[in-house]
Amino acid sequence: MEQRIKLVDVSGAPAREQDFWPTVVLPKAAINAEIERLASLPRPANGRRAASVSHPMNKGPVPAFAPGIDVHIEVLKPGEQTEPIMRSSTRVDMCIRGSGVAVIGNTQFKTEKFDVWNTPSMEPFSYRNDSADLFVRLSYSNTPLLEKLEVHYTDSTPVDLGKHSTFSHVVGEAVEGGQRARDLAKPISVGSDGAQLLGYEWLVDIDTLQSKSLHWPWKEVAPHLETVYGMDNAYTGRHLYVLYNPATERRIGTSHSFFATIAKLPAGKVDRPHRHSSAAINYIMWGEGKSVVNGEKIEWEEGDLHFSAPGWSVHNHASRGQGFMALTIQDHPLHIAMESLLWQETLKEPIHKLGSNKSGIQTNLNNQLKAA
Ligand SMILES: [Fe+2]
Repeated sequence: MEQRIKLVDVSGAPAREQDFWPTVVLPKAAINAEIERLASLPRPANGRRAASVSHPMNKGPVPAFAPGIDVHIEVLKPGEQTEPIMRSSTRVDMCIRGSGVAVIGNTQFKTEKFDVWNTPSMEPFSYRNDSADLFVRLSYSNTPLLEKLEVHYTDSTPVDLGKHSTFSHVVGEAVEGGQRARDLAKPISVGSDGAQLLGYEWLVDIDTLQSKSLHWPWKEVAPHLETVYGMDNAYTGRHLYVLYNPATERRIGTSHSFFATIAKLPAGKVDRPHRHSSAAINYIMWGEGKSVVNGEKIEWEEGDLHFSAPGWSVHNHASRGQGFMALTIQDHPLHIAMESLLWQETLKEPIHKLGSNKSGIQTNLNNQLKAA
């Protein structure tokens, strides 16, 4: 193939203006209609009945609801099971109807409505519907970014699920007992500010961290949400809990790319307009509310899927009626890893580069705790 490399003159060029995807809502009725349509089809060969929610601005290479986040509506009919598959993407799932069994690497658990769990990269996974109703989940992944990089690895070779050694275990066993080659490659200091030279061995034998599937059953999570629901409207933070996976360490994620939070806002709560470079998608689990995103007003209610914050667009959310409860997925840990998590908590405050050289945002939690 003839290749012609171009040299593009960017001398003196201004910064490219960012093209924010507008806020959009996929209503509950459209989600339900799609669930019924998927259930009406003959079973596909791999067992995965799924629809990917694609934003009108998405240009590919795969369907995506935010530039770096895809959301699949996945349906299993009673008695059905998916063929195992292993991918280099990571996932966060929420069951939104029925119940079923998740088998991820050598972990297996039963999931019910509003349970959340993560699937680490390169762990084969499969789902089984052992109930009498449809088993439906929303599955969020960082596939769009990996596909853009042309490195999304997928393997659907049959494996014996449950007996599979997870990747983290294999790596751990290989290092145990023997001296590591990198121990022989002594770091060399350069200058006096911490710069070093390291041998190749440090690139290919990085410290390991066990990455496993964790499960947040709704039955255990729900009672805690009453605490944040009960906080008064003067609280300057958000009425939520992060579903924290300790493997993500200081990046405070649920998977290595995304955090999942569940918020329960009281009646009459209006968040202050703010912005962050992470993009956000809200699934409304209960109640109703409204948002202003990039100046556009939008309302939503239980069962809707809301692309609620395009990265770096000014937005705020407010509750209506008795309040609302929402699952939020944001590509926040990914941005921390890239040192690109910019955050402006109110438009009067400076832009923070969270987790780096400035202190983080402070709330008035202290007042809430005194009042409790
Ligand atoms: Fe936000």
